[in-house]
Amino acid sequence: MTNPARKTVAVVGATGAVGEVVLRLLAERNFPVGELRALASHRSAGTHVKFDGREIEVQEATPEAFNGVDFAFFAATGGLSKTLAPEVAKRGGVAIDKSATWRLDEQVPLVVPEINPDDLDKHKGIVSCPNCTTIGFVMALEPIRRAAGLESIVVTTLQAVSGTGKPGIEELERQDAEMARGEALTTETYPRPISHNVLPLCESFREDGYSTEEVKLLHETRKIFGQDDLDVTMTCVRVPVAVGHSAAMLVETREPLSPEAAREALAAFPGVEVVDDPSENVFPTALDVVGRDEVLVGRIRRDLGSDKLWMWQVSDNLRKGAATNAIQIAEEMIRRGLK
Ligand SMILES: NC(=O)c1ccc[n+]([C@@H]2O[C@H](COP(=O)([O-])OP(=O)(O)OC[C@H]3O[C@@H](n4cnc5c(N)ncnc54)[C@H](OP(=O)(O)O)[C@@H]3O)[C@@H](O)[C@H]2O)c1
Repeated sequence: MTNPARKTVAVVGATGAVGEVVLRLLAERNFPVGELRALASHRSAGTHVKFDGREIEVQEATPEAFNGVDFAFFAATGGLSKTLAPEVAKRGGVAIDKSATWRLDEQVPLVVPEINPDDLDKHKGIVSCPNCTTIGFVMALEPIRRAAGLESIVVTTLQAVSGTGKPGIEELERQDAEMARGEALTTETYPRPISHNVLPLCESFREDGYSTEEVKLLHETRKIFGQDDLDVTMTCVRVPVAVGHSAAMLVETREPLSPEAAREALAAFPGVEVVDDPSENVFPTALDVVGRDEVLVGRIRRDLGSDKLWMWQVSDNLRKGAATNAIQIAEEMIRRGLK
């Protein structure tokens, strides 16, 4: 007989950058896995991935692969989530989706468990995870929002190549090697070289000159905070860093808030750590955050020309930006008796 406390779990995109971290963290966090199904495309079917010291054979993701599944973590493509997440819901399971497909759907909760866990109560079988950039951003803003309200934010993000999955990592490694050999750089994933370079483009440009990534950050932040009038304006930048998204944020609060009070509010918030001592050159960097679940915040200071606050925020895009947040959602649903 199966133990109802143990869950049948599917990881869709198990061979990808996020899927691999989901598999690792399910074991690391002692998620109550009964059966684990590793799913990917037909290209990887028959290959193996590691889970909790065991080799699991990868199967093709088909509707039938979700029979009896309690939780399906989707880390593949938006198109696949569009067709297969409803198949999970139809079979009585919960799809936790990392793609952009369902994020702005009114029927689908968009959740960061430290911020809006109550939204999970309204789920209809699909729950969406915010973009990896949005998660670090809202985690650093939530303590400030609770302390003093939010009026507007100007943000520049500096995003790692792993945000584009394995193809992004491979592009940087290949171009670094080409650069070292003195060869011309070949481009496949990004429109311009990323090695030794900085690209003011994440994803693709829209007609209005913003990138699709930038617009996601605006709408997802508003939905998570339930604040449609929140003014967020941004430039998203790709940098030659393997893992770890950074962001420089200028924050206008509704009520006055001193840097000291902001530091206190941030330090008291679960999942946020303040790393901020300019006199000792202490500030968070991408390398500091790799392999960690906390969002690190530093450089907290008053704007020289206004009452606004500057902050610098860094998070591991593959962990809190993706896998950790998705697993925390499932853990919270179990805690609430929703599954
Ligand atoms: N990377 C990040 O920091 C990050 C953060 C937040 C959200 N996300 C989102 O998470 C998802 C996965 O991203 P990633 O970075 O892990 O990408 P990735 O490294 O390119 O991996 C993609 C995965 O999707 C699978 N896949 C592709 N097409 C498929 C299909 N038709 N049917 C079944 N499986 C298919 C691939 O399987 P094969 O091996 O068989 O090709 C692979 O396992 C994307 O929606 C992305 O936007 C990524």
